[in-house]
Order: sequence, then structure tokens, then C-alpha cells
Amino acid sequence: MKRKAIISGFSKLSREEKMEKMGELTGSAERIKSQLDSFRLQNKEQQDLLDEISENTLSNFYLPFGVAPNFLINNQLYHIPMVIEESSVIAAASRSAKFWASHGGFTARVVSVVKSGQVHFIWKGDSNKLNDLLPELKFDLYRATNELTGNMRQRGGGIQSIQLVNLSGEMENYYQLHVTFDTADSMGANFINSCLEKMAHQMKRFFKHYEGLSDVERECEVIMSILSNYTPDCLVECSVECSLDELDEIHPGLSGKEFAHKFQKASRIAELDVYRATTHNKGIFNGIDAVALATGNDFRAIEANGHVYASKTGKYKSLTQASVSHNRFRYQLTMPLSLGTVGGLTSLHPLAKFGLELLGKPSAKELMMITAAAGLANNFGALRSLVTTGIQQGHMKMHLSNLLNALKADYEEKKQALEYFAHKTVSYSEVEAFIKSLRTKLQ
Ligand code: MEV
Repeated sequence: MKRKAIISGFSKLSREEKMEKMGELTGSAERIKSQLDSFRLQNKEQQDLLDEISENTLSNFYLPFGVAPNFLINNQLYHIPMVIEESSVIAAASRSAKFWASHGGFTARVVSVVKSGQVHFIWKGDSNKLNDLLPELKFDLYRATNELTGNMRQRGGGIQSIQLVNLSGEMENYYQLHVTFDTADSMGANFINSCLEKMAHQMKRFFKHYEGLSDVERECEVIMSILSNYTPDCLVECSVECSLDELDEIHPGLSGKEFAHKFQKASRIAELDVYRATTHNKGIFNGIDAVALATGNDFRAIEANGHVYASKTGKYKSLTQASVSHNRFRYQLTMPLSLGTVGGLTSLHPLAKFGLELLGKPSAKELMMITAAAGLANNFGALRSLVTTGIQQGHMKMHLSNLLNALKADYEEKKQALEYFAHKTVSYSEVEAFIKSLRTKLQ
């Protein structure tokens, strides 16, 4: 294999030529081509669309697109689309959704929808002078971005504020323009970045032409202009609540009161211990990312945002809080979620469009609440299992079909394996041994 050779001009090759190159590298051109071709869509128009979403596309990478039904959120029923590779996530979300649908459902609220971005720059003048220039500079920046923001203002959004942040104490002559935005129903990354770059350009002109400034003050070095994926003021809350006796049905042999107290301790541990907090929050993102993918949203931005928010006190903690008082159990998730339901992939990817249709074409705010409910449901499901049966029972049950596929089990073998493992702990070695025993019996 010639894996180490640098390939130049790869992006300029046709798809066929790219596949040939990959074939040369792996020494199995025919197999690679037929495999990659087999995952392409018949519909040329849709395939072309997918090809152009990214660069150097060779084929499609499939993930299961499923639905977690019966989410009652603010008294409205949703069937939530989820795209996820982990076998137990949709099952856990559906189980929690069903439980809470008959115990008051999820209550969700969007607290705020502010997003922000920054122009990072170096200015070598006196900072008091910069403060004095600020009102005029801001006026100029609003005027310069007027055309860019027109459409967004018609949709109820736009630039909300421009602040000067003096960080010259941290790094010599370093300042920021910290700009806040409302991006209505779009995630708004392109809108924010375009506005910031326009502002950066205009700010340089402003200093250059401003009368009465020294040569040093006329120079403004823009380091970069970019949105921030940290949006602590684009915040959603989602909670579930019921009386302790309603939790009696959760697990045989455990009263609702005992379950609630054990659950609360598990939740508290995720506030105290960073190792546990990480896994606890990962369980929340199981649900959140799956909805983000199914609706064409950027799950990396969502994760980065959530993890920083979880560290806002200086210590990484869980994003949820549980309380048990006056015979009531309450569990709440509070987190920033910057989502869009128009623009970007949401209107390009055919299945993302379908995902949004399934949810009744929600606004961005509504999608924030739905996504938070999915996150809370998955996390509630994980804690419910952890403090009762343990996680492996449910996990490995769902994992059984993956193991059977890996062992290339046929229909009959799968049927027998499902029966055999219905009440047993599943492990790879045991499933392998079981399938081997079936196959030796047949010889
Ligand atoms: C697995 O994907 C997620 C869990 O580990 C989450 C948790 O431990 O809370 C089950």
C-alpha cells in the first residue's frame, strides 16, 4: 500500500478518479468502487445535492433515522425524529417519553435567544480615547451592516448590541467588539459571521479616516472576526415533575420514595464529581445530538456550547438538577441550545426536512424545547436504569442484534438467540458461543 504518498490536486479530480486513487492506495479498486457505489442514491438529483454538501464526496454514510414517539411537551404531543448509531438511545428516549406522557409530560420554556460574536483587534492608542470614539464607531457599524441585516430584521431578528471589551490587561492592546444578535428561526452562523466581517472592515476604515487621530491610532489590526458557539443567553429549561407515589411503578421492590431519593443522590453525584458529570452529560447529549442530526443542526456546536455551560461556575458539573420535597419529585435540565429550523442543512437535506415536518415545522424556539425534552428523557432513562437494574441489561439487549449481525447470524439463528437471551445477560463471548453451538449442531 502506498499510503504515505502526498496526493496533489485531489479535490480537482472527478469522483471516478478519486475512487481510482483510493483503489490504488488500498490495492482493491474494484471492491472499493462497488462498495462506495452501492451506498449511493438512485435519485440523481438528491445524490448531487448530497455530494455538494461537502467536499471530496465519494459516497453516503448511512446512520439509522428513527422516531421516539409520544413526547408530551407543554401539553402537545410530538413524535421526535432521531439519528443515532447507539442502539439503546431511541429505546431509552421512548420509554421515558411514555412514562412521562402519563405523569404530566415535559414542561419546557425558552429563557432567552441571544447569540453573539466578536471582532478581535489590536489598537495601540489610549483606551479612554477608544471609549470616547465608541458611540460614533457604533453608529458607523450599524449603518455599514444595514443592508446585510435587512432581511433578518424583517423576520424579527438582527443586531441587538455592540459593546467594546477592553482586554489589554490580558494581552497588550487587545480589544473586542462583542456583538449580540437575534437570528430568529435560523441558527444564524453565516449571518453573524458576515455581519462581523463587515464590521471589522468598516472599523478599519473608521480609524483610518477619522480626523484628529495620530498615525498609530489610525492603525487597527483585526486579528479575526467570528461568532461564538458559547451562547449562555440562548437558554432553554425543561423539567418533569410528579408525586412520589407515581414513581412506585418504576421498579418492582422499590417504592417511589426510595427510587426518588436514590435518583436524587445519583444526580447530586454528577454535580460533585467531574468523572461522573461527563458521563451523565454524555447521556443528555445522546438525545440532543440525535435530534440535532435528524433536523439538520450542528451537533458539534451544540456539544461545545453545553460543555462550557456545564463549567460556568469554574467546575464542570451536570446540566440537570433533581429535587425531592413535599412528596414531589422534580427533575430539570437547563442548557444553552442554539438551533435553527430555516436555512443551512435544515432546508437542504431531504431527511432533515422530513424530520422538521414530522415535528410540525417548529420555530427555532419550539425546537429548542423539543430537543431539551429528548435530552432530559435520555438522561432520565439512563439514571432510572443505573439506580435500579444497572445499565447493561437494557444496553446489551439492544446490542444483541448488532452482535448477531457482526456474527453474520441468519434469520433462524437470530430468532433462536433472541429467545435464548430474553432473560439472560448478553455478552459478546456468550452470543458467539451460542451461535457456534447452533452451527455445530447443524453439522
Ligand atoms: C451511554 O451512552 C450513556 C450513559 O452512560 C449515560 C449515563 O451514565 O448517565 C448510560
